[in-house]
Amino acid sequence: MTWLREAGGPLSGEELARRLGCSRAAVWKRMASLRRRGYRIEGRPAGGYTLAAVPDRLGPAELAPHLTGRWRRVHAFDEVDSTQQVARDLARAGAPEGTIVIAERQTAGRGRFGRQWHSPPGLNLYCSILLRPPLAPGAVPQIALVAGVAAAAAIVEETGARPAIKWPNDVLLAGKKVVGVLVEMESEMERVHHVIAGIGVNLNAPLASFPRELRAKASSLLVVGGRRVDRAAFTGRLLAALEARYGRFLSAGFSSVRAEWESFSCLTGTAVRVAGPEGEIAGRVLGVDDDGALRLVEAGGRVVRVVAGEVTLRNAYRR
Ligand code: BTN
Repeated sequence: MTWLREAGGPLSGEELARRLGCSRAAVWKRMASLRRRGYRIEGRPAGGYTLAAVPDRLGPAELAPHLTGRWRRVHAFDEVDSTQQVARDLARAGAPEGTIVIAERQTAGRGRFGRQWHSPPGLNLYCSILLRPPLAPGAVPQIALVAGVAAAAAIVEETGARPAIKWPNDVLLAGKKVVGVLVEMESEMERVHHVIAGIGVNLNAPLASFPRELRAKASSLLVVGGRRVDRAAFTGRLLAALEARYGRFLSAGFSSVRAEWESFSCLTGTAVRVAGPEGEIAGRVLGVDDDGALRLVEAGGRVVRVVAGEVTLRNAYRR
């Protein structure tokens, strides 16, 4: 496919046969097969073939021109239960860091806190990236913040709009969630076997495609920006954004992405409640620290760190 994409103009059947090392009849057959798969190829053998449009699909062929980093091993599926599950199986079988699992649809997409992730076909991005960070297990939650900031940066590049991050890693546009990040790992006490960073981005889902109960709090880039997103190009941006930040995080820690994370944070200065493993804490958000923990000041002035939990805004609280 790249040969036709990069040609920039028509390529004759003869030239294609030469480049592909096959007969002109074989070229004709290949064009027919590509057309059946949704590629719009204009022209005929004598006048030359031009690639006019590629199908809106996240397969290896459609993604290849958009993958600019080192992570290029893509396992693409029409339907899976959860890309997290597939990536975990690949990880256990020894797949290397940077292996990517993408699906057009998930039948059991997973969110944080055991929730479901709404995953209709052909509209959004559902991907899981296998990582093998040389970190202690306690540092792994920071990867969720790194993934959140990468998704926010990719949205800025794609749309020019300014998303907000709600700690630890929800990305919102116009106050509604468009990205969810789920980081899972397998480890021993002191050694991480693998991490699966799962990212779901609502790209071209119209509002009507969301279940009624989600419509008040979830949205998509299409709904907010009013224009369809090239899903393959966006996937390329997101993976490049994540690979760059993950590389910095591994060599210099979360502090290397903290300022960028803070620049997107919508919580700093606001009154919140955090429901965490040790109960509920209320306070005003001061920011995040160099470990990605949320820093809050309670009504009595005590400063507390929260490493895990779900935040809700608490308008009634004033300090
Ligand atoms: C959240 O609850 O905010 C996290 C949602 C994470 C969804 C993504 S979609 C790709 C990957 N596969 C899953 O089953 N979940 C994650």
